[in-house]
Formats: sequence, structure tokens, C-alpha cells
Amino acid sequence: MTRKSAFRFVKECLNQKLKSMAAPRHYTSSSSSSTSSAKPNLPHSSRKGRLFTGSTIGLVIAGGAYASTVDEATFGGWLFNATKVVNPLFALLDPEVAHRLAVSAAARGWVPREKRPDQQILGLEVWGRRFSNPVGLSAGFDKNAEAVEGLLGLGFGFVEVGSVTPIPQEGNPKPRIFRLRNHGAIINRCGFNSEGIVAVAKRLGAQHGKRKLDETSSTAISSGDEVKHGGKAGPGILGVNIGKNKTSEDAAADYVQGVHTLSQYADYLVINVSSPNTPGLRQLQGRKQLKDLVKKVQAARDEMQWGEEGPPPLLVKIAPDLSKQDLEDIAAVALNLRLDGLIISNTTLSRPEGVQSNPMSKETGGLSGKPLFSLSTDILKDMYILTKGKIPLIGCGGVSSGEDAYKKIRAGATLVQLYTAFAYGGPALIPQIKSSISNHAFLLPDLHLQIALDFIFKDLIVALGFQFRQSFKLIINFRFQLKLIGVVVLQILTLVD
Ligand SMILES: Cc1cc2nc3c(=O)[nH]c(=O)nc-3n(C[C@H](O)[C@H](O)[C@H](O)COP(=O)(O)O)c2cc1C
Repeated sequence: MTRKSAFRFVKECLNQKLKSMAAPRHYTSSSSSSTSSAKPNLPHSSRKGRLFTGSTIGLVIAGGAYASTVDEATFGGWLFNATKVVNPLFALLDPEVAHRLAVSAAARGWVPREKRPDQQILGLEVWGRRFSNPVGLSAGFDKNAEAVEGLLGLGFGFVEVGSVTPIPQEGNPKPRIFRLRNHGAIINRCGFNSEGIVAVAKRLGAQHGKRKLDETSSTAISSGDEVKHGGKAGPGILGVNIGKNKTSEDAAADYVQGVHTLSQYADYLVINVSSPNTPGLRQLQGRKQLKDLVKKVQAARDEMQWGEEGPPPLLVKIAPDLSKQDLEDIAAVALNLRLDGLIISNTTLSRPEGVQSNPMSKETGGLSGKPLFSLSTDILKDMYILTKGKIPLIGCGGVSSGEDAYKKIRAGATLVQLYTAFAYGGPALIPQIKSSISNHAFLLPDLHLQIALDFIFKDLIVALGFQFRQSFKLIINFRFQLKLIGVVVLQILTLVD
């Protein structure tokens, strides 16, 4: 049947239906029904009409039944894909306007909610908390903690808010965010635009109550479990990233204020000493400055009253533009002061060769996104070796696919974060990345074990070299031991062969 004739058929049936509805139903009278003349002229086309109505109702019922069998999760999956249609429209807007809209949408819950549970292989325990997956949203997207629920609902394993400064400040004049679209990159010189710790504490306080409720209902099922599922006050993990005011003379006092006001809401805290847009900030990464700062912040955190779960772990976020000596100094401080983790890295002031052709690359500020990937991953690898795998590292910088996330984990990251790729790719990117990571790690029920084994086979030479250098040292880290065992097993297998 051609489209035209089908359309005509449908129209005819509808007309018939409408007519038959309007017509008096005298034909149902019994005695007259026996004579053909008295019979209404139903029959042929009206049968079609009935057929059509019947099939329409049937289709609606079947459709409804199907929709009801399509679980929320599948429906949610469609919604994630639907955002791919909307996302390019954001690209037409000024970057900061687009960003503002995205945060508002997430704050109002106008974003898809991930109903599909994360695959078990993606789950991991860090700092005594259960992360349902290792992919997080890095600081800067939700600077003022406006959209924590919406963002966690997108399926991130964790969300980091901030950087938050003690006193509200405007940041640098606009425009201050620039897209390098064809390079999958952004340059920003926001300069810590922040509503300040009081506003953010109020917001987190209000959410805290709500999240606490969610937790009460969800933990009832998992009681008896040693590891706490999710964060301090809900199913997702919340990081709070603290900064300093531009004009503040006493940086440590600023971070201490941040800790005093915000740490009660945080599953982990971050001292950000690596933003390139606050004058003098990066100097706090120097050995002595960092040591003094971390000591003061740790003391401020520890002197507060904590319940049985203890204070939130403290991390430092570092820049990718550091010399070997700088890295060694930071590693030494981190090990000596038993820092709970490092985030590697913030944006770069450098302009890798590929992006120099882009006129936007001349803009002042920190570069993020794809061109940052190798620089930040190299630093991550160095830091993993320098800290002997003893400190959880969060790999950040240029992650735009599951492959990238996997590479970060192989380079030593326990968790990964992203920002720029999310700004370009939107919500649909998150399930994509998670499923791609789990596809990489299909052999074993533990992602990190899988990656460690992967490391043995793929990077055998590097591993051997490293083990050789470390041969006289006591190797206490499990992953190192695993690599060592792997190497030995491999050698035995080769001999047997
Ligand atoms: C517009 C913008 C604002 C940012 N603001 C912050 C911030 O306030 N604090 C912070 O620690 N990092 C901030 N970052 C850095 C990101 O958290 C991340 O470390 C960096 O962008 C590298 O990751 P990516 O390549 O996935 O974007 C910001 C990044 C961008 C693009």
C-alpha cells in the first residue's frame, strides 16, 4: 500500500467512525433488521472502520504494555541518547552562558537520571567508601554546589564541587572561557569566581538533610556491610575543593576557613594549589610552602569533632606544569604527612604543539581537554612511581573516552575525573565511558586487578626495568607485588615452554 492510499484509507475510516458515532443507532432495532432495505449501510467500509479502531486501540494497549515492560532504566538510556540532539545547541551559545544553563538544568533536575546500576566490575573502595564507578566530575563545573544531586544522578561515581573561596568573589572579567572546539579543548581564566564558603555551606547543609534521608532508606538493605556504600550522607560521593581569595595575604588561613566551614559535608577535601589564574597560588606547591600548608589544614581538620567515620580524607590538586624536582618535593610531602591523595592534574599554562595553530590558543589561561591528556598522564605516571603506589591518585586531564580513563588507571590512577569532554559531550558521554571501561576489563571481576595484569603483559619491559630499580627496596604495595609475581610467573612459563 502506498503512503497516499494508506493515508486515504485511514482518513476514510476516521470519517466513517465519526459519522457512525454521530448517526442514530436505529439499526439495532430487532424487527427491521431482517429486511435488507432497513439495514443501515454499514457493512463494508464500516467493518474497515471497526478494524481500524480495533487495531488502533490494540496498538495503544500493546504500546502501553510494551512501555510498561520497558523498564525505567531503558527509558533512561533513551533520554541519555536524546541529549545528543540538544547538546550541539549549547555550542551555539557563549561558553559561559551555556555552562550557566547546564548547571541550572542539572540543579532543577532537567537532566536524565541514570537508573541503570553500574556494573559490579566498576565498583571500588577508596578511603573506606564504596564508589560505584571510578569516573568523577572534576572541580570547576559546579563551583557553588548548586547541582550536586542532578550531577550525581547522571551516573558519575563522584562529583567535586568548588573551588570555593572564603569570601565571595567575582573572578576575572568576562569573557574568560574560550572553546578550542576542533581540539576538544578549553582555555579558561575564571580566577575562582565563587559565591563563598557561607553560601556553599548553606546549600550543602540543605542537601545534606535530603541525602541523609536517602541514605537511611538505602542502608536498610545493605546493613551488615563493612564498607559504607556511597558517601557521607547519600549514595554518591561528594568532594569539596577549597581555594583562596585573590587578595588574601594569608593563604593557609583561607584554606583553614574553608575546612572549618565545609568539611562536615565532604566525603573528601581538596586543597587546590594549582589554578593558574590566581596570582601566586602555584607557588604553594613548593616543598616548604606545601608542607606548612598541609600541616595547618590537617590540624584544622583534625581538631574538629568527628563521628566514628572520622574526618574526610585530604587531597592536594597539583598542576601539570611541574619539574621533576617539584614532583619529587610534592611526593615527599605527601608521603611524610600521610596525605590521603593527590589529584593530577589541573589545567596547563603550556600550549602543546597541536593547539598552537588555533587562534584561541593565544588567550591567557589554563588549557584543558584533549591536548592536556599526555602531559597530565605522564605526570601521573611519575607521581605513582614517586609515591610508590601508596597514595590514591585521581587522574584528571583530557579524559574523553573509556580508553583514556583506562590509560589513566593503567598509569596509576585509582579514580579518574573529567570536565572538558563532559562540557562538549554532555550526559551521553558518561554511560559511554563507563561501558567502555568495563569492556576493557572483562576478564576479571576486579577492575584494578585486571589493569594490574594488563600492565604485566603489556608493559613487561617497563615493569621489569622498574622492578630492577626497586629490587633492593622492600616492596609493600600490593599492586607492585602483583606485578612482580606476574613477571616471575611469566618467566617460569617461558622456561617451561
Ligand atoms: C572552565 C573551567 C573552570 C575550572 N575551575 C576549576 C576550579 O575552580 N578548581 C579546580 O580545582 N579546577 C578547575 N578546573 C580544572 C578542572 O577541574 C580540571 O582539572 C581540568 O580542566 C582538566 O580536566 P579536563 O581536561 O577533563 O577538563 C576548571 C576547568 C575549566 C575548564
